[in-house]
Amino acid sequence: MARRITLIPGDGIGPEITSATTRILESVGLNIEWETVIAGMTALEKYKDPLPKDVTDSIERTGVALKGPLTTPIGKGFRSVNVALRQEFELFCNLRPSKTFTGIKTLYFDHIDLIVFRENLEEFYSGIEHYIDSSHTAAETIGIITRRGSERIIRYAFEYARKHKRKKLTVVHKANILKFTGGLFLDVAAQMAPEYSEIKFEDKIVDNMAMQMVMNPYQFDCIVTTNLFGDILSDLASGLVGGLGMAPGANIGDHVAIFEAVHGSAPDIAGQNIANPSAQILAAVMMLDYIGEKEAARKIEKAVAAVIEDGKYVTKDINSVNYVGTSEFADAVIKKLQN
Ligand code: NAI
Ligand code: MG
Repeated sequence: MARRITLIPGDGIGPEITSATTRILESVGLNIEWETVIAGMTALEKYKDPLPKDVTDSIERTGVALKGPLTTPIGKGFRSVNVALRQEFELFCNLRPSKTFTGIKTLYFDHIDLIVFRENLEEFYSGIEHYIDSSHTAAETIGIITRRGSERIIRYAFEYARKHKRKKLTVVHKANILKFTGGLFLDVAAQMAPEYSEIKFEDKIVDNMAMQMVMNPYQFDCIVTTNLFGDILSDLASGLVGGLGMAPGANIGDHVAIFEAVHGSAPDIAGQNIANPSAQILAAVMMLDYIGEKEAARKIEKAVAAVIEDGKYVTKDINSVNYVGTSEFADAVIKKLQN
């Protein structure tokens, strides 16, 4: 029987990179039936609603979604649909690996292998914010951290590290200034650490962490942190391995998971067939692992790595002189899979 999966093509470069991805998945003969639904700007234009009910109904039904990036208006307009989906399905963990691929020129480092576990529901992303008066002289955003919310993301990170034989977990915080919210998160991590004595545990204050990641990323392995810091540090980590075009992510809850690239809808390059679909394809690889299609996952991952290593069919962000388009990159991956 076909495995039903929700597909949200997304805004901006979303349709280009998701169609490259689904073509690759179909080429390995996976029996997937996509439930395609639209959200974000695309849905706002068509249905006057950025998150139509058929999107959440579909995810509720399938339990798994592959999602293209969605545009969120800045400083005004509707609340982020990405955040709304994470809240709706309690996707408390945002798992973002950054791994170097041979063939990609990075600025400083080879052989990076970092995973950021970002708390995905609490703190400054809860949408508790307002101007304090009608002339907008001041504004307030409230960030709430709970013990339960901290426990489940930190537990997830420790369990993942144990299962995948990772060596170290660094908890990142700003508990010197945010003594209560940061302090609570750090306290939960420190209390849990002795249960995982085989994993080296340490804590770092976020500003120092940003510097350390740029100076010497090899000292880190798994990183667990609160929502805003995780958002920022995962983009930083992707920069170490060649940029956002290579960084996949998974939003994981107890019953539902949504897989997407770390990057956004990249309006500056949308519709031009130049976006790198690798992050989206690698997000689909994470999805295949999640649904138990491990063999297909490894095959696709290897094919992407091989095409990048060959260097003949890569997108502009990887080689600005000799490059191919989004769909031609997908063709090259499909060809590798058929060899
Ligand atoms: P962005 O990630 O869309 O783009 C940042 C820069 O990276 C741009 O120069 C873009 O061209 C480049 N880039 C991104 N993905 C690329 C790819 N696959 N290949 C080649 N180059 C790529 O971030 P930005 O511009 O800050 O946000 C644009 C929109 O995306 C905003 O509305 C934002 O809210 C939304 N967004 C959505 C996310 C999601 O759906 N999960 C995540 C991040 C941002
Ligand atoms: Mg981000």
